[in-house]
Amino acid sequence: MIKFSEQKLNEVNKIIARYPEGKQKSALIPILHIAQGEFGGWLDTPVMDYVAELLHILPIEVYEVATFYSMLNTKPVGKHVLEVCHTGPCMLNGSDQIIDYIKEKLGIGPGETTPDGLFTLKPAECLGACGYAPMMQLGKTYREHLTKEKIDKLIVELRGQANN
Ligand code: FES
Repeated sequence: MIKFSEQKLNEVNKIIARYPEGKQKSALIPILHIAQGEFGGWLDTPVMDYVAELLHILPIEVYEVATFYSMLNTKPVGKHVLEVCHTGPCMLNGSDQIIDYIKEKLGIGPGETTPDGLFTLKPAECLGACGYAPMMQLGKTYREHLTKEKIDKLIVELRGQANN
């Protein structure tokens, strides 16, 4: 059964309490972030239904938001999601080559996950760090001025963490 741990539920209730009665929907995005972190990195339908129940809103209201924002995953993803920006400034600075390199190196296409479940490649729209193009988001961090060498190093680092 889908249920937040007691600690997460306290966190969620604190967020809901910030909003006046009847406006709980305003807490939806931060709660979806917590749910995504808590339930395997993505939002399965029962998870979204659970969030709807907590906020006293319709499940469709949750689905609409979850499918709109690229940082919310509605399909299973790998442990590390490589969200490579491919909007104008990043593209002009080589993001297409970076994406192609990751595709070739990991043998996956956009939206796909490596068979070991470690990496998902996800092209993203502008992440607000155009001055550091080409860049990607990796969890809560930004990796900037990407080069093929930096990608090689990153993948070795993340595979190393998985083996520890
Ligand atoms: Fe890539 Fe803005 S265009 S961060």
